[in-house]
Amino acid sequence: MTRKATITIDGKTIEVPIIKGSCGPDVLDISNFYQETGMFCYDPGFTSTASCASSITFINGDEGILLYRGYPIEDLVEKCDFLEVAYLLLYGELPDISQRESFEQSITHHSMLHEQLRTFFQGFRRDAHPMAVMVGVVGALSAFYHDNLDIYDPQQREVASHRLIAKMPTIAAMAYNYSRGCPLPYPQNRLTYAQNFLNMMFAVPSEPYQINPVIARAMDIIFILHADHEQNASTSTVRLAGSSQANPFACISSGIAALWGPAHGGANEAVLTMLKQIGSTKNISEFIERAKNKNDPFRLMGFGHRVYKNYDPRARIMRKACHDVLGQLNINDPLLEIALELERIALEDPYFIEKKLYPNVDFYSGIVFKALEIPPSMFTVIFSVARTVGWVAQWNEMMTDPAQKIGRPRQLYVGEKNRNFSKSK
Ligand code: SDX
Repeated sequence: MTRKATITIDGKTIEVPIIKGSCGPDVLDISNFYQETGMFCYDPGFTSTASCASSITFINGDEGILLYRGYPIEDLVEKCDFLEVAYLLLYGELPDISQRESFEQSITHHSMLHEQLRTFFQGFRRDAHPMAVMVGVVGALSAFYHDNLDIYDPQQREVASHRLIAKMPTIAAMAYNYSRGCPLPYPQNRLTYAQNFLNMMFAVPSEPYQINPVIARAMDIIFILHADHEQNASTSTVRLAGSSQANPFACISSGIAALWGPAHGGANEAVLTMLKQIGSTKNISEFIERAKNKNDPFRLMGFGHRVYKNYDPRARIMRKACHDVLGQLNINDPLLEIALELERIALEDPYFIEKKLYPNVDFYSGIVFKALEIPPSMFTVIFSVARTVGWVAQWNEMMTDPAQKIGRPRQLYVGEKNRNFSKSK
C-alpha cells in the first residue's frame, strides 16, 4: 500500500505519494503538484530536491559513508584498480576476468585522438587554463563522432562512453604538454590507465620515463575517489544537457565546465592557493576568523559539503595517501603541516562544529598532486578525467530511465507585471 502525505492549501487537501528508496531519505513524489495545486515548489540550490532515481552512488552524509553500486569506497580503493571501479559504475557489477580484459582492451584501443583533433590545441594560447582546453577539445569530439551516434542505440552509447573514458587522459596530458611547449603525447597500450596517464604527462621523446609505482598507485586511488558522487553540480549539468538529447560529448563538455568552479571541482586548486596564502601555522587563527566572518568572502577551501555533515570518507583516504606518498617519496612539504594544523584547529572550533564543516575530498588532494609534481592548474583537470566515468554512467542511466524527460525547472517570478509599452520620445 503506497504511503501518502496530505498537503492542505487554502482548505483544499491533496495526497502526495511517498516513495521509499533502498537506503537514504524517502521522497515525496510531487510530479503532479503543479497540476493539482497550481503552485510550484521552491528549492534554490536543490537542497531538498531529488532530481532522479539512481542506483549508481549513495552518500550517507551524516555518517560519512560513500558507496559505489553498494560497495564502500574504502573497500574499492583497497581491492580494485580504477578500471575495475569504472566497469562497476558503468555496468553495476564488478567485472570477472574476461569482462575486465575486454573492457580494458576497449578502453586501451580508444585512447588515441583523431590526428586532426591535435590541431585544435594550436588555437589556444599556451597560458590558457587547461580546463578551458578540456571544455573546448572534449566538446569538439562531437564534431568527430556526432554523425554516427544514435543515443538510443545501447551499443552506440557504449562506444561513446568508452571513447570518453579512454580519451580524457590523452586530452588532459596533451593540454598539459601544450601549455609547456612540449610535444603532444601518444598513449602506450602496454601501460595501465594510471601509468599511461603519467607517461603521457611527464615522458619526453628524448629519454625513457621511469614510472614510479608509488605515484602510479596514488594516481589510481585519486581516480577511484573522484569517479562519482551522486547528483553533484557537474553530474546534474550532464544529466540536464543529456535530457535535451544532446550528444554525450557535448554533455561531458558541459560537465567539465560546471566542475571548474572553485565551489565544486576547482576547490582542490583553491586549497593549495589558500595554504600558500596562509604560509605558516602561525597565521592559521587569523584565517579561521576570516572564514567565520560573514562580511569576509574568504572561505576555508576544502571544508564543508552540501551532503557530508561528517568527515568526507574520501578526505580520510586522501589524508592517508598524503602521508604515504610524501613518506615514500621522502618529501617534507610544509603545506601538509599547515593543512594538518588547520584541520585540527577548525575541527575544535564551535563555528565549524555547529555548522558541521569537515574537510572534503579537495582538502588534501592538492598536497598529493603537488608531491606528484602536478601543477595546480591541472588538479581539476585530473578530477574531470576521473569524474568522466561517473558522468557517462549517470548519462547512460538517465538515457535508459523510462521516467526520463527533458529537464525544465520552473521559477518564482518576482519581476515587473504586464506594462504598457509607451515610448517617451
Ligand atoms: C566538491 O556535491 C558534491 O558531491 C561535490 C563534490 C563531488 O565529488 O562532486 O564532493 C566535490 O565540490 C567538494 C566541495 C568543494 N568546495 C569547497 O571546498 C569550497 C568551500 N566549501 C563551501 O563553498 C561550501 O561548503 C560548499 C559549496 C561546498 C557547500 O555549500 P552549501 O551546501 O551551499 O552550504 P552553505 O554555503 O549554505 O554553508 C552552510 C553554512 C553557511 O553559513 P550560514 O550562511 O549558514 O551562516 O556554512 C558556512 C556558510 O557560510 N560555510 C563555510 C564554509 N562552507 C560553508 N564557512 C567557512 N568556510 C567554508 N568552507
